[in-house]
Amino acid sequence: MPRIAVTRLIPEPALELLRGHGDVVVSPHDRPLETGELHDFVRDTDAVVTLLHDTVDVAFLDAAGSRLQIVANVAVGYDNIDVEACVGRGVVATNTPGVLTEATADIAWALILMVTRRLGEGERHVRQQRPWRWNMFFMLGAGIQGKRLGIVGLGKIGAATARRARASGMEVVHTGRNRASEALETELGAAFLSLDDLLATSDVVSLHCPLKPETHHLIDADRLRQMRPTAFLVNTTRGPVVDEAALADALRNGVIAGAGLDVFENEPDVHPALLEAENAVLIPHLGSATVETRTAMGVLAAQNVVAVLAGRPALTPIAQAAQ
Ligand code: DGY
Repeated sequence: MPRIAVTRLIPEPALELLRGHGDVVVSPHDRPLETGELHDFVRDTDAVVTLLHDTVDVAFLDAAGSRLQIVANVAVGYDNIDVEACVGRGVVATNTPGVLTEATADIAWALILMVTRRLGEGERHVRQQRPWRWNMFFMLGAGIQGKRLGIVGLGKIGAATARRARASGMEVVHTGRNRASEALETELGAAFLSLDDLLATSDVVSLHCPLKPETHHLIDADRLRQMRPTAFLVNTTRGPVVDEAALADALRNGVIAGAGLDVFENEPDVHPALLEAENAVLIPHLGSATVETRTAMGVLAAQNVVAVLAGRPALTPIAQAAQ
């Protein structure tokens, strides 16, 4: 029987599927494994199901050994995986695109509404029993209708977010390494702009590009200064795409109007100055956090394992995947 290691508890339907195809060992810890623990845990396995906090690098692959056929990441993002090293060892690496698109776009859209309409601030106000009375000028936010949403990275999640924006009367523009298909640009009425032009003209900027060396701190102090002082930044991709210290400064000094963040540079830590910023909405990496979506992610990862162990192609190998 192939040995399948699962580095942290995943939904039962996924485990059930795996159990039909091998000896499944699930980490007993409700936390990410330390590097040494992780390497011991994956030793002499045929397949490993990983989570986004597991680093899959040369040392991991060395530890796993020559039996390893597949690393199935239960996430669409795969910045934790050295895909080239996997390819070099003949190990298939897979992720879970598609199944979390709508859930993550819901969270991007929720953050856009929360930050523009000051909902986090309002919720804190009521919960902390601060005094308030309805009046014409109390806690006014920014309307979104007729405003411009700039999508950085018009993949599946970016497009699903853009559809929500269009349905609410926003104009959409986009930028990224690759231009979207003509059909998608037409559907969304989304012009392709340079990053400079998108930042300078958007009322809300929503980040959906994957974390890669070239997107690390893509939004830094200079980029933030290119945005309008009335504009908002939303990040649901990976924390390190934004220079968090620079963002905290920009929020404090009115360089931009606000930010909605689902992801952070050093999760679960959050830059202390962001915690102080009333104009930041901060939520704990909830993009794909619905029962249905997490189950679908686990099952897709398990299906990838089953396929590869049976000698079939993986359903969602990373090389062909797009967020
Ligand atoms: C992903 O799949 O990359 C998400 O960040 C998990 O919620």
